[in-house]
Amino acid sequence: MSASRDPLVAVYPGSFDPITMGHEDIASRSLRLAERLIVAVAHTATQSKRGLFSVEERLAMLEEVFAGEERIECATFEGLLVDFARQRGAKLLIRGLRAVSDFEYEFQMAQMNQELWPGIETVFLAPDVRHSFLSASLVREVAGLGGDVSNFVSGPVLRRLREKLGS
Ligand code: PNS
Repeated sequence: MSASRDPLVAVYPGSFDPITMGHEDIASRSLRLAERLIVAVAHTATQSKRGLFSVEERLAMLEEVFAGEERIECATFEGLLVDFARQRGAKLLIRGLRAVSDFEYEFQMAQMNQELWPGIETVFLAPDVRHSFLSASLVREVAGLGGDVSNFVSGPVLRRLREKLGS
């Protein structure tokens, strides 16, 4: 059997509204498993949540945050995640699991995605313990109320939060 194989491409999907240091941590851990990573913002039409940033703004922040990492590509997608993954030649989905409370939703999504396309596998990664309480929704809430989120998001995100919230 030949040892050579195609480079393993993974997709790390999410809302990324905005990207937090917890997301960045999961992305860098993913590069231990995959040769290339596509960090993909789901179009808002595929989600029920109302957002702070537009999909274009979220993508721009991802591109700034991962500018120095040539193995990471940033993208947006509409429609089913598995269709996007298949089109991009990705056989791995990455999701971060912070706590047991994340598990039920994540497990349901992983199994639905498996039903939709048996060629996909979902890998759950645990973030550094320093980020286990961190979520984009808490960052939005704290920043919106004038709290300091500089420990939770990178510089480009902090700047855009300040612009957006006028603080
Ligand atoms: O960061 P989030 O909001 O937890 O990410 C959820 C996301 C974007 C991964 C999920 O809503 C998704 O995959 N949306 C794309 C539409 C889709 O494929 N839905 C079926 C998922 S089982």
